[in-house]
Amino acid sequence: MRLSRPLAALFISSSIPAAYAWGAAGHEIIATIAQMYLHPSIVPTICDILDYSPDDATTTQPQPCHLAPISTWADKFRFKMRWSSALHYVGPLDDHPSQTCLFPGERGWAGSRGGNVLDGIKNVTSLLEDWTRGEANDGTANEALKFLIHFMGDLHMPLHLTGRDRGGNSDKVLWSGRQTNLHSLWDGLLIAKAIRTVPRNYSRPLPYPDVEHALRGTIYDSYIRRIMWEGVFQKWSDQVPEWFSCPEATPASAGEIGIWQQVVMNWKRLSGGKQGVEIGPDTDVVCPYHWAKPIHALNCDVVWPKELDEPPYGGGIKFADEDDGEEDAAGRPPKPHPPLLELDTPKYAGVIEDTMVVEKLLAQSGIRLAGILNYLFLKDAARS
Ligand code: ADE
Ligand code: ZN
Ligand code: ZN
Repeated sequence: MRLSRPLAALFISSSIPAAYAWGAAGHEIIATIAQMYLHPSIVPTICDILDYSPDDATTTQPQPCHLAPISTWADKFRFKMRWSSALHYVGPLDDHPSQTCLFPGERGWAGSRGGNVLDGIKNVTSLLEDWTRGEANDGTANEALKFLIHFMGDLHMPLHLTGRDRGGNSDKVLWSGRQTNLHSLWDGLLIAKAIRTVPRNYSRPLPYPDVEHALRGTIYDSYIRRIMWEGVFQKWSDQVPEWFSCPEATPASAGEIGIWQQVVMNWKRLSGGKQGVEIGPDTDVVCPYHWAKPIHALNCDVVWPKELDEPPYGGGIKFADEDDGEEDAAGRPPKPHPPLLELDTPKYAGVIEDTMVVEKLLAQSGIRLAGILNYLFLKDAARS
């Protein structure tokens, strides 16, 4: 399915700005891994597209051109481009990790049609395909590429695939004694800790020129070397070829909903029940729904702490939410604050670190992004 243009006209959204994505570190790491897998013949095309900077300075590439500096563009301009904010995530209705993970359930997806990260990726990819056929202008290609690089990152952040509590933005937790929220923990704090604790030996170059060539001399270099060495080349080496692939025939619209469930959905819609929207089908080369499904399931496995729905952190005990701790005018004592769950523990962060879940998501995201870019522009490079 092709969505119509221009981009902005499609996605009118009123959602409140919150955390939007992996933080800068996550997006830059993903883009750096993607850079390693770009076919050398498409790099000039990508540089040309990125070099075309219509009206902002962020695309002026510090030589040599690299995907990382522009990977956070979509977040930096999110206030200017409010229409784009819903494109950073997707919310399956009735999804409620950690007890119930639905992707989607019977009622489909929250939001407006086309206004989610799955459709966003397909839309910008098809705009770039138009450009390779000479059917879209350079300005459109420039923005579409910057969005694609960013949205492929967001797709691999599990909390961008659930709408519960705005993807965990409203769930206060503790991280080493400091208050934060579950979303911010996943956007940035887990990665920040991983970067701080990389073994020293990764400060030495790896014997892989493609890896070293893509590194940029940043504080992320050692961590990226570890992801590649321990993860991509060893732990996950058997699976990596599957990461690129899409199933031959992908189910349309409501994901893997079967024909009978669709009949029930339509019946409920006709009878006036509140229903969600549908998403467009995956294609055989760009299949964000297929890629996202197991990532979404992580919300029930490791991301959403069960304790948040059990006493004393949740599960029915009512505390004053935003209490100032002062006596009220009638002299009644302040209501107790809810205790906050500490997550920098062996049981939570320890399991995430030991299983390298975050590192695998960053690697999958980068490798799949490179796959899409090679698919799009190799055809173009062959023509010229
Ligand atoms: N706003 C609402 N849901 C969100 C999510 N899952 N991620 C980021 N921002 C959101
Ligand atoms: Zn984002
Ligand atoms: Zn986020």
